[in-house]
Amino acid sequence: MVSRSDTQSTFLSLASAVAGAGRARQDRIYRAGVSGLRPSVPTDAAGLEGAARRHMSRKAWAYVAGGAGEGRTMDANRESFYRHRLVPRMAHGVKERDLTVSLFGEDYASPVLLAPIGASALVDKDADLLTARAAAATGVSMVISNQGCSPLEDTAAAAAPAGHWFQLYWSTDEELVDSLIRRAEASGAGALVVTLDTTVLGWRPQDLTLGSLPFSRGQGIAQYTSDSRYMDMVRTKIRGAGSDSSGDVRITPAAAASLLSIARHHPGRTLRNLLSPEPRAAVETFLGTYSNPGLDWDMLATLKDRTSLPVVFKGILDPEDAERAFAVGADAVVVSNHGGRQVDGSVSSLDALIEIRRHLGDEPTLLLDSGIRTGRDVAVALALGADAVLLGRPWMYGLAVAGRRGAEEVIQNVLAELELTMALCGAKNVAGLRGTRVVGHA
Ligand code: GLV
Repeated sequence: MVSRSDTQSTFLSLASAVAGAGRARQDRIYRAGVSGLRPSVPTDAAGLEGAARRHMSRKAWAYVAGGAGEGRTMDANRESFYRHRLVPRMAHGVKERDLTVSLFGEDYASPVLLAPIGASALVDKDADLLTARAAAATGVSMVISNQGCSPLEDTAAAAAPAGHWFQLYWSTDEELVDSLIRRAEASGAGALVVTLDTTVLGWRPQDLTLGSLPFSRGQGIAQYTSDSRYMDMVRTKIRGAGSDSSGDVRITPAAAASLLSIARHHPGRTLRNLLSPEPRAAVETFLGTYSNPGLDWDMLATLKDRTSLPVVFKGILDPEDAERAFAVGADAVVVSNHGGRQVDGSVSSLDALIEIRRHLGDEPTLLLDSGIRTGRDVAVALALGADAVLLGRPWMYGLAVAGRRGAEEVIQNVLAELELTMALCGAKNVAGLRGTRVVGHA
């Protein structure tokens, strides 16, 4: 995103790097190969996933790679991307590609943003900052997670100049909602992305089997512990603690490890945190505040008076919901099933996109996430009607394999394959890709 403070030349250099992403990336890899060097971050989706699994703890893998129930929605997402096939055109004379897109009047170097992923500290304590730097280096905007592990202001600073959006979970406390919105605005966010599909967490056997919820270990609550309204709530909780039962935690080595984790992830010094009731109260307050099952369209309609930011609703799958979203003031929706993490056996995001685009026509801004693993997948989503996409798990896998460089390489690989796919299909820009024929859908 080219924010008001960014210069046009910064944008042009990001855009031109992305425009030549495919050949440049191939050249770099093949040239290094002459000296016997091979990419340490796998360039294929399956290899990347396998390498990430080897680098991640069981709990990290369960949370990041896991999905709802039997994983049928995750399978459906991939199956839909396999089923839809591009029909490349020949002798089109397209020598250069322009990957830029415009969203809400701002220019973006590519149609790819990074999807918000919470609890990234499972992979690295500074995962959000490392990812933001990788995003900035590749000209990709990051959607900063409401369940992040660094305060959004710090992550936003690291994400400049590529810009950022902020994901909002509607909590049960309206003052907290307003406080987070104000912070998103002050941080220079390009949009507010309200996630609608996670008013409660889905049934996730991988996490359940390990009894593992990162938030209960203090991972993924940094937006809360850095918020003055939230910390007021925590202090109120501590004052009322006499009558409050904090549950039936048994004193075991695992409980001690959890307490240490909570103390380490809370702002301030670990030793002081171990002796203070505040970090534990912050976790308990979170568990009672996070996401509001009562969220409805009337509440969402209030956003137009509560923020000057473009509003994006994430998690839409039904065409009537999409229509309703725009009717209550959304500037865009993200067609998404939360990476298959919420409802098992739900419609794939790509199939939902086709239906929603058909229902709403060409005009409304539709983004897509869930199931995207490669640049070719991005091309298919754009051809089928997405204006831009959010890339999720792959960037986290890159981060797990090789830190910031790993995330950067994954993003570069996706952009490179997207650009080469456009070159081979004869699409000189994203609009041209929309005209590319796709077979395999009803
Ligand atoms: C939260 O967004 C989750 O998917 O765990």
